Amino acid sequence: MGLLSGARVVVTGGAGNVGSHVVDAALAAGAREVIAVDALVRGVPENLDHALATGRARLVEIDIRDREAVMATLRGCDVLFHQAALRWTRCQEAPRECQEVMVEGTFNVLEAAAEANVRRVVMASSAVVYGEPVRLPLDEDHPLSGTTVYGAAKVANEQMGRAIAKLRDLPVVSLRYFNVYGPRMDVRSRFVEVMVRWLNAIDEGKPLTLFGDGSASADFVYVDDVARANVLACDAAATDAIVNVCSGVETRMRDLAALLLELTGSDVGVRYEPQPPGALPQRRYGDPRRAADVLGFRAETELREGVRRLIQWRRQALATADALQT
Ligand SMILES: NC(=O)c1ccc[n+]([C@@H]2O[C@H](COP(=O)([O-])OP(=O)(O)OC[C@H]3O[C@@H](n4cnc5c(N)ncnc54)[C@H](O)[C@@H]3O)[C@@H](O)[C@H]2O)c1
Repeated sequence: MGLLSGARVVVTGGAGNVGSHVVDAALAAGAREVIAVDALVRGVPENLDHALATGRARLVEIDIRDREAVMATLRGCDVLFHQAALRWTRCQEAPRECQEVMVEGTFNVLEAAAEANVRRVVMASSAVVYGEPVRLPLDEDHPLSGTTVYGAAKVANEQMGRAIAKLRDLPVVSLRYFNVYGPRMDVRSRFVEVMVRWLNAIDEGKPLTLFGDGSASADFVYVDDVARANVLACDAAATDAIVNVCSGVETRMRDLAALLLELTGSDVGVRYEPQPPGALPQRRYGDPRRAADVLGFRAETELREGVRRLIQWRRQALATADALQT
């Protein structure tokens, strides 16, 4: 029987995209109680509708910078999934806020987990820690040469996770997610990810903007797969591990644009613009082998199927929001 069966679980960032899917996955794995901790700076309570309806989940609106509140919430907890974080653009705009939320907030969470003697901590890290690739695919031993404030905070989180794991005999697994996509992505805020930005452009009848020759690439991993990797990380034999969560598939941005146009039946086409400075690495995709060895994880959802589900969910989510406004 898995660690989650009958467990009391806390998911920080639990109203966010990945966090809310982790809440659902923990409930499906038999958790007795799941507490979604979120300050609702980006996540929304609707993401938890399904989970709250089970009667075994609740949303606790606290900020992870509040040490006492974090300590009190984690008391009696068996498993912790730490997903709360700011978006990378927000970290660039406000580095001190990033330090306070992502570095000090994460320390509060790890300290409280150690005090509560939790049986497993699973933390969200990011492929951003690698920076510009010196080799591909990106394996976990690749140099950490990222230059963003967000990436620096994630490296600090991983290292503190390791240190606390050793100091307090606390099993900690950090998962370096690549580009997560799927239902419950943020479709409302000022900054949205590329797929949502392009779906918005399609709705507005505008062409999709590609930079350079559109050959830049990314590794897209479907959100349900990411949630499943979190559950597998609970029961992995490894107690101090850092693992990529990726599909291992390199997708060129021009191919992604073509897929979105095809699946929406749109004829808005694409427009090429010069590559802006400071953009993401030109090519990026991960090595999924350690995740297979350590977690028994392999991404299962093909990009075409995942994008189809995202399009369907987004249509419904926007229709519901419109209906509520009228
Ligand atoms: N989405 C991706 O492509 C991606 C890629 C790599 C890593 N990650 C990491 O995965 C995790 C989940 O990302 P996501 O895409 O679900 O993002 P998200 O923004 O949807 O979720 C993060 C949640 O954290 C909450 N939060 C922010 N500050 C908080 C605070 N001070 N206290 C409590 N809650 C706070 C937000 O309200 C939000 O609901 C994050 O740690 C993120 O850095 C995401």
